[in-house]
Amino acid sequence: MTDILIYGENGTPLHVLNESEYSDWVASQETFTQNWLTTSGFKGKGWTSVPASTGELALVVAVVSSASEFFACGDLAKQLPAGTYSLKTNAENQQAVAFGWAVGSYRFDRYVDDKSDVATLAINDQAIVDEALKQMYATALVRDLVNTPAGDMMPQHLAEVTKDLAEEFGGSFSEIVGDELLEQNYPTIHAVGRASCHAPRLLDLRWGNADAPKVTLVGKGVCFDSGGLDVKPAAGMRYMKKDMGGAAHVLGLARLIMAFDLPVNLRMLIPAVENAISDNALRPGDVVTTRKGITVEIDNTDAEGRLVLCDAIDEAVQEKPEMLIDFATLTGAMRVALGTELPGFFATNDETAQGITNAGLPIQDPVWRMPLYQPYADMLKSDIADMTNCAAGPFGGAITAGLYLQKFVPEGIDWCHFDIMAFNIRQLPGRPKGGEAFGVRAVFAYLQEKYGSK
Ligand code: BES
Ligand code: ZN
Ligand code: ZN
Repeated sequence: MTDILIYGENGTPLHVLNESEYSDWVASQETFTQNWLTTSGFKGKGWTSVPASTGELALVVAVVSSASEFFACGDLAKQLPAGTYSLKTNAENQQAVAFGWAVGSYRFDRYVDDKSDVATLAINDQAIVDEALKQMYATALVRDLVNTPAGDMMPQHLAEVTKDLAEEFGGSFSEIVGDELLEQNYPTIHAVGRASCHAPRLLDLRWGNADAPKVTLVGKGVCFDSGGLDVKPAAGMRYMKKDMGGAAHVLGLARLIMAFDLPVNLRMLIPAVENAISDNALRPGDVVTTRKGITVEIDNTDAEGRLVLCDAIDEAVQEKPEMLIDFATLTGAMRVALGTELPGFFATNDETAQGITNAGLPIQDPVWRMPLYQPYADMLKSDIADMTNCAAGPFGGAITAGLYLQKFVPEGIDWCHFDIMAFNIRQLPGRPKGGEAFGVRAVFAYLQEKYGSK
């Protein structure tokens, strides 16, 4: 594969301009270039190339409404002819252009032969190149994991990925597999995952200095969500390979934290299961005693994400982390509330919620806080157990799922819960259809601001 971003200044000049800068830029060009732009009908929107008198490529100009937007140049890497381009833009746009270029070069080509080359961008600033590449690797990791079909992305595969990531950055990895989950008291993870021939697991990655502030991430790793016995209809099941999207998100976030060497004591927990159907599957009406001891009546086996998460969250809070952040493709209801492109999140700490929201805005990673509206907790009342796993009715489904999880988070813990789509259902600049990271960069920018780099 060709390099996507390199340090240097050799290559065809690629001028990236704001619309408002275009006329001044044209005026500063040679007559040949000015004439070409006029006669070829370029109107100062999008991109065009200008030849030299030899017919070779002399320069490319890309005119966007705001070059400091992170996805403004998201389509360039795939649209420009293969070759190396040298970035010419204002210093304040470089980071955004580098990022958009890098993530826009992404292709999921695991199952196809056509692994065609993309263009290379040379930037004369090593720090910008390094940062954009780290961001790109994290985003590509999330996308690859989500895009990979469930048959090739079962709990054991997530375990391999987590182990490799720990090894790459000198962290440690451990896991609890199959019936060992019962022996070590993770009954709810086991109950959801036991019907699959791919044994359920709890993956555990640790990295960083034990004396640094503890940041714990938890990700929903449902490798395929058939719905269990309350089986999903075909349309709802079609893309449920993405139900390990929360796990993919925390793996991407952990990669950023480790690659940028944040001074934190990182722990990442992934309950990894397949929500499958078999004679030993969890049934509607069954009661499970969770790790915390709360008994849960299963109203619907399709509300399995919160079940696997609650045991992992209970494990996480034993160490009283300074921050606890979970990501999960938890509810269809959040998609109804906010659509597919704006991730909703819940938070117990107002400052953290505002901080993450603010951190996402300038880097085009918007997130939207939703309320942990306590009166709705009544909807989780059970006649025979401490609570049910979901409300009987369809209303406020993302909130009741958040409230279910909150039962496992002790008062005083700074906790954020992201209910994400993990998937682009339409193509946008730099964001192809398929697996996508939502909120990962926002949370990372917030953590970077809060803890600083070493
Ligand atoms: N994985 C789904 C939620 C989901 C569906 C996320 C589509 C993103 C897109 C989850 O396990 C689920 O099935 N939730 C149910 C809960 C219901 C049974 C209370 C839902 O949202 O319908
Ligand atoms: Zn489900
Ligand atoms: Zn699910």
